[in-house]
Amino acid sequence: MSNQELMDEIVSEVRVCRKCRLWQYARNPVPGEGNLEASLMLIGEAPGYREDLAGRPFVGNAGKLLDRLISGINLRREEVYISNIVKHRPPKNREPKTDEVEACTAYLDRQIQVIRPRVIATLGKHSTKYILSKVNIEVRGLTAVRGLAYKEKLLGLPVTVIPTFHPAAVLYNLAYRSGLEEDFQKIRKELEKKT
Ligand code: URA
Repeated sequence: MSNQELMDEIVSEVRVCRKCRLWQYARNPVPGEGNLEASLMLIGEAPGYREDLAGRPFVGNAGKLLDRLISGINLRREEVYISNIVKHRPPKNREPKTDEVEACTAYLDRQIQVIRPRVIATLGKHSTKYILSKVNIEVRGLTAVRGLAYKEKLLGLPVTVIPTFHPAAVLYNLAYRSGLEEDFQKIRKELEKKT
């Protein structure tokens, strides 16, 4: 199967997914979007209000900031792949529960295997914890790991994982802004490295 066919299959499964409770409250699933050949994959937490309406990831205020961060490292949004840990919006934007993360992340794993990105940027605590847990790294707090570059074999693929803040956190706390920008420069440098 081609990468497009594999991704289409994942998306159609997400559309009818009933593995956890979240579909009941959501208007639209938000499977993820972007370039299937992307070198950079960005992984957020969960769709919010705007994403739920649009069925697309990061289209609200956090998304606008993310777009600026992406263009700040000379990439276009269409060149990267953007996904989330859970694919349906949790009610009132609450944090995803452990069983919801467990139910949903098989889709994310398959997306990673289709895209085979060179760099994964994990945005925020949930996605950082999940991705680093897969390489047996326990994350106690995001501040201890953000901006570090973990060169790992994830799902059998060589990848550099760079954890950073969630863009929404920066909307509430401007102090994180420069850290997020610095981390994106690290992402740029990593992408510029010859393979
Ligand atoms: N926050 C996320 O984590 N993901 C989105 O898609 C939007 C906001």
